[in-house]
Amino acid sequence: MKSILKVLLLSCVTSLAHAAGGGDVHLDHVDVDIRDKPSLQRGAAMFTNYCMGCHSLKYSRYERVADDIGIPHNLYEENLIFGDAKIGQLMDIAMAPSMAQGWFGAPPPDLTLVSRLRGPDWLYSYLRGFYKDESRPWGVNNVVFKDVGMPHVLVDLQGLCAEKPELGGKAGIDPLSGVVVGAPGCKSFATTGSMEPQEYDAAIRDMVNFLAYVGEPSRLESEEIAPYVLLFLVILFVPAYLLNREYWKDVH
Ligand code: HEC
Repeated sequence: MKSILKVLLLSCVTSLAHAAGGGDVHLDHVDVDIRDKPSLQRGAAMFTNYCMGCHSLKYSRYERVADDIGIPHNLYEENLIFGDAKIGQLMDIAMAPSMAQGWFGAPPPDLTLVSRLRGPDWLYSYLRGFYKDESRPWGVNNVVFKDVGMPHVLVDLQGLCAEKPELGGKAGIDPLSGVVVGAPGCKSFATTGSMEPQEYDAAIRDMVNFLAYVGEPSRLESEEIAPYVLLFLVILFVPAYLLNREYWKDVH
């Protein structure tokens, strides 16, 4: 009995610790919608071009992803599969973890389940949380992942934030001065990128959306089936009700 109590107590503590996550780090919120296929397609393209050099999605298969997000196989193969991988294969990469460990200090983890581990808000904030820090090997640090081993691979798009971006702030208008205060994100850039901040945020939302889908691919199917299941239950209710009435008819 005592050990059961201990286990229960421990699991409460760990889930609390998990919920607390980044401690005092504030996150920006993002609304993901895994039914938004154009967004998933843009996210998949961006992920393939900017992330798959280092990160695999090795629990997913190209073919399944192509079908789910609505890209014909031949287009997917021509544009979003590099090297000699085939559409039926798992989305693995060639980089050996041991070499990556030497280059980055930590191997780039597989990202299939990262959205379930970290949550969309964390990912959205992380990918918008890089800033200039000359003391780090890649010259960048990250507000939600301190001393991160990953370079800011999207610097050409976002630009390089000169100081810690402010995340998690609610934008509002100061009633006295009329100035917008607490707007989230980067305040000043050391180098500018090719995208406007809003454009970059939208692109990152697409990518987080894609990672959210990859972490839970069957959810798309379940959501599609759900109305039919409910309809079936409603229809089943009628004979079940009539049968019940029939059985109990003679019992007084
Ligand atoms: C040049 C290689 C490289 C590229 C390209 C790259 N990453 Fe990374 N990434 C890393 C490394 C290395 C780490 C591990 C960092 C650490 O643990 O300090 C990492 C960590 C991460 C993490 C944190 C995972 C976790 O839970 O600890 C996420 C999320 C992530 N990368 C997303 C991306 C996305 C999205 C892209 C594409 C825009 C990308 N990465 C491109 C090298 C890379």
